[in-house]
Amino acid sequence: MTITSSHNDKLKEIRKLARRRTREDASRFVAEGEDLVAAAASAGWSPLVLLAAAGSGLDGDEVEGSLLASVSALGSGTRQLAVYGSRWSAPAGPLCVALWGVRDPGNVGAVLRCALAFGASSVALGPGCADPFGPKAVRASMGAIFQVPVARVSSLDGLPGERLALVGGAGQALSGPADGELTIVVGAEREGLAEEVVAACDRVAHIPILSESLNAATAAAIALYELTRGVLADA
Ligand SMILES: C[S@@+](CC[C@H](N)C(=O)[O-])C[C@H]1O[C@@H](n2cnc3c(N)ncnc32)[C@H](O)[C@@H]1O
Repeated sequence: MTITSSHNDKLKEIRKLARRRTREDASRFVAEGEDLVAAAASAGWSPLVLLAAAGSGLDGDEVEGSLLASVSALGSGTRQLAVYGSRWSAPAGPLCVALWGVRDPGNVGAVLRCALAFGASSVALGPGCADPFGPKAVRASMGAIFQVPVARVSSLDGLPGERLALVGGAGQALSGPADGELTIVVGAEREGLAEEVVAACDRVAHIPILSESLNAATAAAIALYELTRGVLADA
């Protein structure tokens, strides 16, 4: 039977999961759109709730199209939407990306996407980072949230291998490939990495550029490229 009431319990839950606090308390999150639902399935994730727009022919409990669109946190007129259980891992090597104070969910998602592309072992989120299970981060990850282990950390202790702080204009020019276990530490959009975080790292490196700085996700992508150059399958 098609869901036609906005008071339906599944729709109510999805609306509530737009809030970070609810996601954290419930350890559940929403993925919007058939591409993400397919990415989850191919990574072996089963949805706890699966909804599809009536008449779309997609799997899931049928919901009146405009009603489904109304619970979308992204306002993208999604045709399929699913709820999953959040999974947190421990930070793993040999190549980990740690984000410190990266508040933009689009950047967090983009880093997950790059981590998957370059074969990083995990992404660790330090204090002040956006929720990787938020709707914008999940969308920006393009499904990588279902494949890359994500860890929550409160200090640099326990991050795998040598800790390499990425700081514009400081330390040596970054050059790869990585020699042994390594964690790349990337800082906040405005403030960059705090002095004490840099001091707690083993090494500092920069990506040589002509302007002041790169976007955090772009810096992570270039660093991952450089550190895996010649190591990935095409080499
Ligand atoms: C937008 S930048 C922060 C800019 C900030 N005003 C600063 O001075 O650090 C965000 C993060 O991206 C990384 N990043 C940006 N440009 C970089 C570069 N040229 N070399 C290495 N890391 C860079 C750093 O980790 C930085 O903390």
